[in-house]
Amino acid sequence: MLKVYEATCTAPINIAVIKYWGKRDTKLNLPTNSSLSVTLSQDDLHTKTTCRAAPELKADKLWLNGKEEIIAQNKRLTNVINEMRAQRKKLEENDNSLPKIADYKLHICSANNFPTAAGLASSAAGFACLTFSLATLYQLKLDNVELSTIARTGSGSACRSLQGGYVAWEMGEKEDGSDSHAIQVASREHWPDMQAIILVVNDAKKKTSSTLGMQHTVATSPLIQHRIKHVVPKAMEDMKTAIQNKDFDSFAEITMRDSNSFHAVCADTFPPIYYMNDISRAVVNAVHDYNAAKAAMGSAQKYTVAYTFDAGPNAVLYVQKKDADNVLGVISRIFPAAEDKNIYSGFNFNDQEIDEVLA
Ligand code: ADP
Ligand code: DP6
Ligand code: CO
Repeated sequence: MLKVYEATCTAPINIAVIKYWGKRDTKLNLPTNSSLSVTLSQDDLHTKTTCRAAPELKADKLWLNGKEEIIAQNKRLTNVINEMRAQRKKLEENDNSLPKIADYKLHICSANNFPTAAGLASSAAGFACLTFSLATLYQLKLDNVELSTIARTGSGSACRSLQGGYVAWEMGEKEDGSDSHAIQVASREHWPDMQAIILVVNDAKKKTSSTLGMQHTVATSPLIQHRIKHVVPKAMEDMKTAIQNKDFDSFAEITMRDSNSFHAVCADTFPPIYYMNDISRAVVNAVHDYNAAKAAMGSAQKYTVAYTFDAGPNAVLYVQKKDADNVLGVISRIFPAAEDKNIYSGFNFNDQEIDEVLA
């Protein structure tokens, strides 16, 4: 009887408060600046990936949200798959009792339960999940640093999704990228009051992928040099201190300033890249107005809520639990959800559907 080996994992998205934008090495995804993010709950926006290895499979195949992606044409996928297979091969060479599954072809079914390529970190959850599910399938004994380093070669931001809580990606210095990976700055339990509110402004695929966008910025923007040298290093230090002290005012201001700095370098790219739209900018104004109104009403905090935008028009608001209902109420009054549209246009396959995709 032929055996089928299979593993299924989920991985959450992470939303950066200090953004990664720019690569010093495009093959290895080595960044031009360090970054810092908050990993969301696994129960919310996530990727679910099933990997299957079996002797009867004829070719490596991957389906993303039910549609086949040609692995050979996707360097990000081959980076991760080749490395994990090589790691398995090494294990098998050193231990004869292990089944020889590295030579089997792979069928992989992956689905995001939220909009893909819309600036909600689908590449982060997607490549973290691919890395982790292959490590599970192949029973690899890799630590967090090793997993993070491999996930990074799929998508830079993915290196931060393998850990929960508050996570820094230290850019590193080495040419081989071995010191460019994520480390946890603080656990979620350290500051459990933090909540993210996701406002889906537009769930369509962006026109300029993050990979291409940041390459154009590095090639054409003089402003990015200022950001890399003079803005991000201090912001990273100040943000770590804010998290350590659970200082929401500092966290909020650094987060909003960094989002604005990132979108400023996008606008300084030539031709310019505009990820935010009129609604995104209206959200920015509404957040500043709300914060000012709360402060005028005698709030002890300077900021009650902070916005940040990745490479897309969709807003992520960070807010403390005690304020979440009020903020959500006000925001949904100003920006009522479209009635004719299911705004969470993600994929959720059940076991039988995964079997149908992988068959
Ligand atoms: P986002 O802002 O959503 O991260 P990116 O431009 O960074 O957008 O990356 C989007 C691309 O990442 C997709 O077009 C796809 O190639 C890849 N991707 C997204 N989700 C997955 C997944 N679950 N598995 C593999 N690749 C994925
Ligand atoms: C704006 O990690 O998606 O979301 O490494 O080319 O896959 P690649 O880019 P990606 O870039 C993310 C950019 C960002 C900021 C961030 O998440 O830090
Ligand atoms: Co991405």
